[in-house]
This record gives sequence, C-alpha cells and structure tokens, in this order.
Amino acid sequence: MSNLQRQLPNLGELAALLRFSPPTFGRREARLARAADIWDLRAIAKRRTPSAAFDYVDGAAGREITARRAREVFDAVELLPRILHGTAQSDLSTTIAGGASALPFGIAPTGFTRFMHSEGEIGGSRAAEKAGIPFSLSTMGTRSIEEVAAAAPAVRRWFQLYLWRDREKSRALLERAAAAGYDTLLVTVDTPVAGQRLRDVRNGMKIPPELTLKTVLDASYRPEWWFNFLTTDSLKFASLSNTSSDLPTLINGMFDSSLQFDDLRWIRELWPGRLFVKGVLTAEDARQSVAAGADGLVVSNHGGRQLDRAPVSFEALGEVRAEVGEEMEIILDSGIMCGADIVASLCAGADFVLVGRAYLYGLMAGGQQGVERAIELLAREVEVTMQLMGAGTVKDLTPDLIRRRPVGSSQRTVAEP
Ligand code: GLV
Repeated sequence: MSNLQRQLPNLGELAALLRFSPPTFGRREARLARAADIWDLRAIAKRRTPSAAFDYVDGAAGREITARRAREVFDAVELLPRILHGTAQSDLSTTIAGGASALPFGIAPTGFTRFMHSEGEIGGSRAAEKAGIPFSLSTMGTRSIEEVAAAAPAVRRWFQLYLWRDREKSRALLERAAAAGYDTLLVTVDTPVAGQRLRDVRNGMKIPPELTLKTVLDASYRPEWWFNFLTTDSLKFASLSNTSSDLPTLINGMFDSSLQFDDLRWIRELWPGRLFVKGVLTAEDARQSVAAGADGLVVSNHGGRQLDRAPVSFEALGEVRAEVGEEMEIILDSGIMCGADIVASLCAGADFVLVGRAYLYGLMAGGQQGVERAIELLAREVEVTMQLMGAGTVKDLTPDLIRRRPVGSSQRTVAEP
C-alpha cells in the first residue's frame, strides 16, 4: 500500500477493525491476474467493495436505459477483419489535445474516487503515468490538484471543471490547475442539476459513509476496504478543502441550472491550455460549443448518469462529427467496457476515448494495481482487435472498417455479465 499515508484509526472504531487483517500484495496480484476482462474486474470489485460505493459507480440515472443502450449499441457493431494485411505489429500510440498518449484512451474524471478505494486518484494517476496515458482529475476529486501533480509528476494531467456561478471559485481552480501543469481542461456542461441515481437513493448512500451496525456487518465481508478507509484521512473534495462550505453545500453549488454559453466563453478567456466541452450529444450543442471557443468536444452522456434516455454517445458521434468537420478533435466516453468498444469508436470518428467505470472497476478490485490491470486488459484487447482488422496504426481505423447490426442482439449488459 505504498500509495497510502496511514493514520491511527479512531479508538471507537477499533472494535470493528479487530476482525480485519491488513491486505497483502501477493494475493491481490494473483486475484487481478486471473481477471480476463473488465467484466471480471467488475465481479471482483463487487465482492470487495461496500454496495453503496460499488453501486455509485455501476449505476446510472433513472431506469438506466441510456447505460443499457450503450452496451446494446456497442455489441451491435460489426468489425471487419482484413486478412493478410502485413501488420505484424500495431502501433497504439496517438496524439490528442496537443500532446502524446501511448494508447488511444485515457482516464475519465470521476468524483469521490477514494470512496471506491482508498488509493483513489493517486492510484489512478500513477497507473496512467506508468501506461503513458492522460489522467483527468475531477473537480469532485478526493485528492487535490497539487497532490495528484506531486504523486504522478510525469503523467499528462487534465482537469475537469464544473462551471460555477461563483466565478472566483472557478478562476482560483483554473489558476491552480495551470500552475500545477494540467495541460487540458474538460468543462462538464451536462450537469445543470444532479442526475437521479436511484441505486444511491435505495442504498441510502451517504458521503462520507457512516459506520453503523449495518455497515459493520457489511464490513466483515469487505475487510480490506474498511481497513483502508478507517486508516487513511477522511474523504473530502480535496481541491476545494480551503473553502468554508460544508459538503452538501459544495455539491449543490456544483450543479447549476442557470449557466449559459456566456459562462463557457468566460472560462475560455481564462484558460491558457486546450479546452474541451464535455457532454455534447447534438449538432446544435456542438456548433454553439465551437462558437464559444472550444478546441475540442467530448461526446458523452456522463456514463448515462445524468439524463436517462439521452442519446448513446456512439450514435451521437456521427451527427457531431458531421457538424464540426474532420479537423476538430472529438473524444468519446460513456459505456466503454472493452477494447473492441474503443476500436469501434475510433473507426466511427472519435480521435480518443475516455474510460470511467472500466478503470474504477479495476480500482475497486485492487487499488493502483487494479487500474494497471484494467489498462493492460483494454490495451491488449485494442491491440489484438487492430491486428485482426489489419490496422497498423490508430489512423488506419476508418469508418469503412465497421458495420452496424440491428440493435437487440446484445449478450452482455452493464448490469450483469
Ligand atoms: C459525477 O460526476 C458523477 O457522475 O457521479
């Protein structure tokens, strides 16, 4: 657990701890090595994480229709093999937002990450650093802008911002992110209000989690999570910890239905690096984002976690690409679970892909090592898929290499393997 700075648990919590034994590295490694794909990591994550945290990641908004459809759509893509194409090896590297990435995907911004596993953003950013891919830190991150920069100095750092009505708070965050070497800003625009996450309601999900009799009973089946949770510093929005607001006030302030494209223009003037607008699903929003000064777009439905029944990113991609033309960079996220999803997205016109849930399943399954395993699995799947399709480079992934089958023949869903 080299990532973690431990502290003594509260005496009152010690009784609950007595039944737990500290995690060991060897067992973790063996467990992760047996995971053959992201769905296997998800199964491990489910066994090892309290259900409130697991469901927060695994769940989506409303009846989870958008999240389910994303799987149906990806599973309905046909990839065309090209035989005897002389591609002994495939080069997975690419460029995005003015910099390099060793793989055509990066880590999406996720909130409350230390709730999923105590290694949180430090584990995620160090795994990304090892793999040579970008790591995005959320405004709702549980390690600060500066902590992530210090923990993974060589990683390409991107910062995700929720627009605030209080412009001074936004300005202060942007100044800190620029000073700490974050080269790209993802401005999330699909959160005028928080999505309705029904699993969280049913679980009575609370942040920070409380140690009640029920959670202690649950803890006996998730000892490593609780051991880590109780022996590390408490959860907070680390980049915002110098503000005086309490947690609910901060959360409510982050979702703001009064925001407009003018607010985006203001951010554009302030941010010196690349700016991507995250949460675009229609040609009209793409047009307005470009007019407001975006360098690129993230076609995203927030993992199906905001507007249920919103379009599936993969299906919205064509309309957005047609609107902005070939030159503008487009990143796709939402629903990516395997290398074939990544390859299909790149063929369909995305320049890059972000993975959120897929990396969090790895994190919950085994901290930083679990994220490393998730990246390794996805990278290997992308590589083998490209080789079987006769694609030597990411640029070779073109629309003529995919076809669509009618939706409805899906084998796997986000909900169950
Ligand atoms: C935060 O962005 C979330 O989707 O929970």
